[in-house]
Amino acid sequence: MFNNAMENITLSPIVAISEVVNKRSLETGKDFILFQRGEVGFSTPQYIVDAMIDAINQGFTKYPISGGHIKLKNAIIQKLSKFNNIQGLVPDNITVTHGGQEGLQLAFKLFQGKKAVGFAPVWSCVLENFVPYANTEFKQIPLEEDFSIDYNLLESEVKDASLLYLNTPHNPTGKIFSKEEIEKIVEICRKYNTYILSDEAYERITFDGKNHFSPMQLDYENIISVYTFSKTYSMTGWRLGYLVSKNKHLTNLIKLGDYTQTAGVPTYTQFAGAEALLNSEKENLAVEGFMAEFNVRRDALYEGLKSIDGIKLPSKPEGAFYIFPDFSEFVPKNISDEESKLYVFNKLMDAGVATVYGSCFGDYFQNNLRFSYSTTNLKQIEEGISRIKKTLLK
Ligand SMILES: Cc1ncc(COP(=O)(O)O)c(C=O)c1O
Repeated sequence: MFNNAMENITLSPIVAISEVVNKRSLETGKDFILFQRGEVGFSTPQYIVDAMIDAINQGFTKYPISGGHIKLKNAIIQKLSKFNNIQGLVPDNITVTHGGQEGLQLAFKLFQGKKAVGFAPVWSCVLENFVPYANTEFKQIPLEEDFSIDYNLLESEVKDASLLYLNTPHNPTGKIFSKEEIEKIVEICRKYNTYILSDEAYERITFDGKNHFSPMQLDYENIISVYTFSKTYSMTGWRLGYLVSKNKHLTNLIKLGDYTQTAGVPTYTQFAGAEALLNSEKENLAVEGFMAEFNVRRDALYEGLKSIDGIKLPSKPEGAFYIFPDFSEFVPKNISDEESKLYVFNKLMDAGVATVYGSCFGDYFQNNLRFSYSTTNLKQIEEGISRIKKTLLK
C-alpha cells in the first residue's frame, strides 16, 4: 500500500551485524574484535568542535541558507583548488549536504528509473538504499580478481547507461583508482555521454605516497563528485558533506532536493566545516595524526592476514581503511551457495571476530570478507589475527 521505493529499502547489513555483535556481547559477556564498521574511532579535532560552539554562541542557529553558506562554499573552492587540483569553480558549482550520504542519494534520485552501472564489489548503501530509493536499474561490473578493470566489459555496460557510480579510494577493497584508470573510464563515459557520480569520501585516506585523483580534474562536464567531512576529520556524526559539479544545473537541482527534504544543513555545522578546511596548521596536525595511526593498523592487519595460509590477498590496499581478502579456501565445496556466503563469517563471529560478508557488496566476491581497521587499535588487531588463526587453522 505504501511507496515501493520506501518499502524496498533495507537497513544496511553492516548495521545489522553490529546489532548482533552488541546482543551477543551482552548475552555471553564475550568481547568482540570489531572489524565490521566504517565508523572512525578518533574524537573530532578540538579546533573544529570549538568553531561550532563559537558559531552557536554567536547566534547562527536560524534557518540555513539553501545549498550552503558562502563561507563554507568559499573554503571548499579553496580546498578543491589546492588539494584536488580542480580550478575555476564558483559557489554555484557546490551544494552542501547532510553528509556524503545525502549527496549520493540525491544524485541517484536525478537518474530515477534509468540504468546505472558501477564496479563490483560496491559499497552496500548503493545497493540497499540509493538504488531502491531511486528505482534505478543497477548493473554491477565485476572488477578482476586483483581489482583491476576489464575495459571491454565496462564499455559494453556504459554504452546504454545514464550513470556510472565510481568510488575511489574504494570501499570495500581499499583500491585507489589510478590517474590512468580514471582517464580511461572518463574517456569511455564521454564517448557515450554517460554521467559519472564520483564518490570521493576517502580522498584523504591514502598511503605510501599515493595521491587521490578526482575525475573532475579532467575535461568532462557531466561529473558529480561527492565529498564528506566524516572520514577525513572524524566527523561521522556531524552529517556534513558536499557535492560538486561543473554543470551548475545539476548542483541547483540537488540544492532544491536538499531544501525539499531537510531545509539545509545547520549553519553552525557549516562554520565548523569551514574552520576544518581553512585552519591548515591544525588540519595538517589532525589529519597527519590520524593517518599515522591508520598506517600502523593497516600494516599490522595486512601482514597478519597474509601470514595465514589460505587467505588470498591482492597487493596491500593503498587507500580508505579496508582490506577485502578472499577466504574461498576455507569454504567447504559440498555446501549450498547460500550457506557458503556466510560460512567463514559465522565461524569468525563465533570466535569473537566481527567482519562484513562479501555478499553485502554485490553479486561477486561472495567468499571475501571486509575488514575495517577504523576503530580497532593495534592490540585488538593482533588479538583478532590470533583468533582467526586459531579458528581457521585448526
Ligand atoms: C564509499 C562511501 N561513500 C560515502 C560514504 C558516506 O559517508 P557520510 O554519509 O558519513 O558522509 C561512506 C560511508 O561509510 C562510504 O563508505
